[in-house]
Amino acid sequence: MKVLAILGSRNPDGQTAKAVKALLAGVEEAGAQMEQVFLPQIKIEHCEQEGKDGWGLCTKEGKCVLKDDFASVAEKIRNADAVVFATPVYFSDLSESLRAFLDRLRRICMHENGRKGIGGKDTVGVCVAGGGGGGAPECCASLQKILGIIGFNVIDIIPARRQNLDMKTKVLKIVGKWLVTQK
Ligand SMILES: Cc1cc2nc3c(=O)[nH]c(=O)nc-3n(C[C@H](O)[C@H](O)[C@H](O)COP(=O)(O)O)c2cc1C
Repeated sequence: MKVLAILGSRNPDGQTAKAVKALLAGVEEAGAQMEQVFLPQIKIEHCEQEGKDGWGLCTKEGKCVLKDDFASVAEKIRNADAVVFATPVYFSDLSESLRAFLDRLRRICMHENGRKGIGGKDTVGVCVAGGGGGGAPECCASLQKILGIIGFNVIDIIPARRQNLDMKTKVLKIVGKWLVTQK
């Protein structure tokens, strides 16, 4: 089994990465593999709302007209058995890189070609409030909403804050193991 983790953080040594690392330990303990993608380290443009109707090729072909790394990450999702979306909490919401990626994924998934291999896939979200520690529940709600619109099977969303991250890493390890073994 292959688990893909998509992080809206640029810092491999940061708090969001620490949370994903804990989940990864559980995934590996259950005998599966996990690949990580740090979105700010690759090129993901914002949607340009192409065309007069603003839909570009999204609803016609289920793909994006922009030429960047978006399509390759969407393909990684299709090739994974489960996906983890992890974000630092910014203004009680998703980070800009994860927002940009999911905004575009939501659009192409309005067409069956775009949705293929994505709709119904098991997904876990992780939201890490690494500053004052507020806003993780709101961020979880935001993530849940967009993942649901895309058509993922959202099986858990885990809030964490700087003050409880050590405790949450233990939970995340259990979630990683469960993600692999639950079916
Ligand atoms: C623009 C911005 C907004 C932020 N908003 C919040 C917030 O609402 N709540 C919070 O606890 N931390 C907030 N932080 C702090 C981040 O959550 C923290 O820096 C992040 O978890 C650490 O990033 P990393 O996981 O990539 O290491 C914010 C940081 C930035 C840059």
